[in-house]
Amino acid sequence: MQVFKEKKVLQKLLAGFKSDKKVIGLVPTMGALHQGHLFLVKEAIKTCDKVVISIFVNPTQFDNPKDLEKYPRNLEADLRLLEEISSDLIVFTPNAVELYGSQIKSEEFDFNGLDKVMEGKHRSGHFNGVGTIVKLLFNTVKPDKAFFGEKDYQQLQIIRKLTEIEAMPVEIIGCPILREESGLARSSRNERLTPKQRENAAFIYKTLQEIKNNFGTNSADNIQKWIENEFKNHPFLELEYFEISEAKTLQKITNIKEGEQYRAFIAAYAGEVRLIDNIALNN
Ligand code: PAF
Repeated sequence: MQVFKEKKVLQKLLAGFKSDKKVIGLVPTMGALHQGHLFLVKEAIKTCDKVVISIFVNPTQFDNPKDLEKYPRNLEADLRLLEEISSDLIVFTPNAVELYGSQIKSEEFDFNGLDKVMEGKHRSGHFNGVGTIVKLLFNTVKPDKAFFGEKDYQQLQIIRKLTEIEAMPVEIIGCPILREESGLARSSRNERLTPKQRENAAFIYKTLQEIKNNFGTNSADNIQKWIENEFKNHPFLELEYFEISEAKTLQKITNIKEGEQYRAFIAAYAGEVRLIDNIALNN
């Protein structure tokens, strides 16, 4: 496995693959790799000749300095996990200056409203930070395909929009959410949960499943009230938001339209740890 810290050295290697017409896949991550990330890497290996995994905790997408500081980092363990998958992988672990230069700040994007709801509404500047780093990574690696998990479904839609507005020739592949045995969506943040919180966090997915099973039988308002009540009585979880939205535009559901796909989204805190999850309701 080859590990690069400098983009110039990485780009030199990739230029050789490009001229040999190799298909290059990119899996952008912030490290603290878990089965969800490894699944993305395995998916990338299936359809790409060379797979680059970037590991970089991006400061501009954190609106809360405490969250950035506490974000788990363990490069050695990450490299070991990747090596177990394949010794042919290429890992890019730059520092902030290598990627951003001397000005570590976000570019402003117009994501056509996709960034104004849910995560965007509750984490100020988050998606400009994500857009900025993903654009920098795409410009560095110039991948043919890039792989992202559906756990961050809003992010996935925003990255699709980013490639459209920036006219970037990269195919964005969304991969299904991987879950712990309890149903809890796999996330690097799960490591920060106490055993009791982790056990109780499974309630988020159970709730989403109930909504899916009953989709179309109740009004959005009634579901909203029911969810708020369920969480109000929960000893370990605090609801930040719940929304049912159109899968493509992420606009809040008004009434169910024929042929339209919908998803339900939840963000909740277990202690200080913020968890998100979502589910497709009608496909
Ligand atoms: O999903 C993530 O881990 C991050 O938001 C990403 C896409 C790697 C950008 O920093």
